[in-house]
Amino acid sequence: MEKIVILTGAGISAESGLGTFRDEGGLWTQYALEDVATPEGFARDPVLVHEFYNARRAHAAEAVPNPAHLALARLEEALGGEVLIVTQNVDGLHEKAGCRNVLHMHGQLDRALCAGCGHRWEAPLEMSVEDACPACGARAVRPDVVWFGEMPYHMDRIDRELAEADIFAAIGTSGQVYPAAAFGQMAGAYGARTVELNLERSAASEDFGEMRHGPASKVVPAWVEEVLGV
Ligand code: APR
Repeated sequence: MEKIVILTGAGISAESGLGTFRDEGGLWTQYALEDVATPEGFARDPVLVHEFYNARRAHAAEAVPNPAHLALARLEEALGGEVLIVTQNVDGLHEKAGCRNVLHMHGQLDRALCAGCGHRWEAPLEMSVEDACPACGARAVRPDVVWFGEMPYHMDRIDRELAEADIFAAIGTSGQVYPAAAFGQMAGAYGARTVELNLERSAASEDFGEMRHGPASKVVPAWVEEVLGV
């Protein structure tokens, strides 16, 4: 049975109404990432950062999976443990679609982290600087998401999975943020067949043996049907 590793980015959730980061009107055209997605920004203005993530958490809570998320759930259901999703997204839509084998390399909007003791728990919809850690009581509560300059989660496991993948697919990511932007090149170097499914060429396109251009809600279901041979 072939092992399939799938990297997803904001583009897979665009048709669920969640903004991407670098497209026209994207989040990084509305906010300075230095202010809301770095430890320094959080230290400088935690109120602004909580407001930013509270708004994204409320938006994600309302969002529903689109045909691309549902197609990946079908793929996981058909192939079981041979399918691993490594997502850069924090929106929880893969789980809402029914996927279970998901690594959140940038954390999750619905998780909170205590910057004091490292305790993690399910985040309330609204977080604020008044919140106290349920474990140590410190008022040092932050969203459990990975900010620029911080180490992504699960990297050892991801490196192992890329080395063993027969197929590596990247869906809806601009290929501008490392280490995820190098996964296609790494998987290909280990001998995996690589395919990029995206609205258009990305900064990492030349690392892929094959490209499928179009909206994820169209190209992902078609690709999954091909992989399943239906
Ligand atoms: N279908 C497929 N792809 C799409 C769609 C769509 N409907 N809409 C947009 N895209 C593509 C864009 O062409 C672009 O290549 O999705 C990609 C979105 O790129 P970014 O906005 O840069 O998002 P992403 O690659 O996930 O960003 C990576 O950067 O800011 C950090 O932590 C953040 O996880 C994020 C990381």
